[in-house]
Amino acid sequence: VPRKVKNICCIGAGHVGGSTCAVIASNNPDVVVTVVDLNVERIKAWNSEELPIYEPGLLKLVQQARDGARPNLFFSKNMGSAIFEADLIFVCVNTPTKQTGLGAGQALELDYLQAAIKRIAEVAQNDKIIVEKSTVPCRTAETIQGIFSASGRRGVRFTVLSNPEFLAAGTAVADLLHPDRVLIGRSKTPDGYAAAAALADVYAAWIPRDRIVTINLFSSELAKLSANALLAQRISSINSLSAICEATGADIDEVSYACGLDTRIGPSMLKASVGFGGSCFRKDVLSLCYLAESLDLPEVAAYWKGVIDMNEYQKDRFTTNIVSCLGHSLAKKLAVLGFTYKKDTNDTRESAAISIVSNLTAKGASVSIYDPRAKMDQVWRDIDTYVSVSGSAYEACMDAQAVIILTEWDEFSNKPLGGALENAQRSSDNSSGHPSGASDLTGGDASKKSKLDWAFVAKIMCPPKYVFDGRNVVDAGKLTELGFHVECIGKPS
Ligand code: NAD
Ligand code: UGA
Repeated sequence: VPRKVKNICCIGAGHVGGSTCAVIASNNPDVVVTVVDLNVERIKAWNSEELPIYEPGLLKLVQQARDGARPNLFFSKNMGSAIFEADLIFVCVNTPTKQTGLGAGQALELDYLQAAIKRIAEVAQNDKIIVEKSTVPCRTAETIQGIFSASGRRGVRFTVLSNPEFLAAGTAVADLLHPDRVLIGRSKTPDGYAAAAALADVYAAWIPRDRIVTINLFSSELAKLSANALLAQRISSINSLSAICEATGADIDEVSYACGLDTRIGPSMLKASVGFGGSCFRKDVLSLCYLAESLDLPEVAAYWKGVIDMNEYQKDRFTTNIVSCLGHSLAKKLAVLGFTYKKDTNDTRESAAISIVSNLTAKGASVSIYDPRAKMDQVWRDIDTYVSVSGSAYEACMDAQAVIILTEWDEFSNKPLGGALENAQRSSDNSSGHPSGASDLTGGDASKKSKLDWAFVAKIMCPPKYVFDGRNVVDAGKLTELGFHVECIGKPS
């Protein structure tokens, strides 16, 4: 097993692979980091000035390591030679929910991961540390080791580690620079210990040693699924309470603030919303349910399935309220502000906006969407029916009868900074828990765009001028003074 890592290959140039390697390379100038992918267009984009993903601060970091005087970050389509040269290989491919076969709709698709492992087995000529960075079901390391054994390679030792990633989109760079923890799972063998120590040294270049935690392989795999399930559960819990608030006249932001002050609960991930989205929460909670079912633990599976059911209920409740407020006739123009699943990303995967907009257009609404980062062709790929995509919020709102806010982009908010409640909510929006992180990195981009002039929006809309705020970013009182009817999540109307 290599003791000191000098050459890293990362298979999968996606959100995690690209960002993680940029941070590793910039903090380890003596280590060569090569990121490879089957998708040649993605590799081309990583080598350009327009990266395939938007993350505050990422372009600058990539440019430093990729284009500096001593470059050590490479994006390449030559997977074979990158694997051949590497002592340590991150496997960072996508693991979406399976679409067909056993476990379809619930289990994680491991075909991409297995293809990557088979490629490594074909090419490798010397000992390698193989690092599972993708999120995988518990005991996948055993499957990987099985593929290596079955490949019949002799004289080459593959030592498998688990090293799940906890970054969140929109704060990826800040999360990678200042993680709560780096988790390394290893087997309790001499090779396992040596490989874990070599990987820990790579991270120790910028992360304090006490934040690099080493545990057993299978615990590490399960900890990743568990962390996502626990985070998603908090959102479903607060969203379930938002329904109670609407029925009683309590205010969910106040309830969340009051509960989050208890240090045992804390304020993060307690912001009521139109429902969580993103590529991971749904698929990882479903994967946990599948794992429980396959272990013959139906009660455990049903418990976690409730987190997903509550999320679907929240999205449906929001849409039903729009339809009912608009008098059950949706032959109207509706403006949708925000399409990504959260702010500061261009990622739309599993965004609540997809199902809400699809439902509204199916009911006859003519929908105009504005999002500061989502790409027009991506929106059209996500929605089956026709929607118009506007270049500005004002264009989307022109002649609309209602505005529907689906992403918490700062520019949509009319709330001032300050006040304990506001600050608590802002810090709970920032899942990274390092408040200065993302905003320090934005450098004059979308999140610093000028705020929407709601008085002007009121002038260009048509009655009845509804605002459906799926993120509780507007001050309903101020908008009511401007002539809007405002409907928030978990607040009296
Ligand atoms: P992604 O879809 O953005 O990127 C995955 C990349 O892998 C794609 O570019 C794809 O072309 C490539 N790929 C697939 N099979 C390949 C193969 N055999 N050889 C070479 N390249 C291959 O995915 P992502 O969002 O980066 O997620 C990767 C993993 O990390 C997933 O398991 C996910 O659950 C996990 N994760 C994601 C996040 C996040 O914020 N997106 C955070 C933590 C963990
Ligand atoms: C999440 C986790 O936060 C990361 O730790 C994890 O690594 C990642 O999934 C993953 O495995 O992919 P991400 O999905 O990028 O990260 O973003 P979050 O900030 O967790 O938000 C997820 C969704 O929940 C978004 O739609 C967001 O708007 C929503 N959310 C978040 C709320 O509705 N309320 C909150 O209080 C927080």
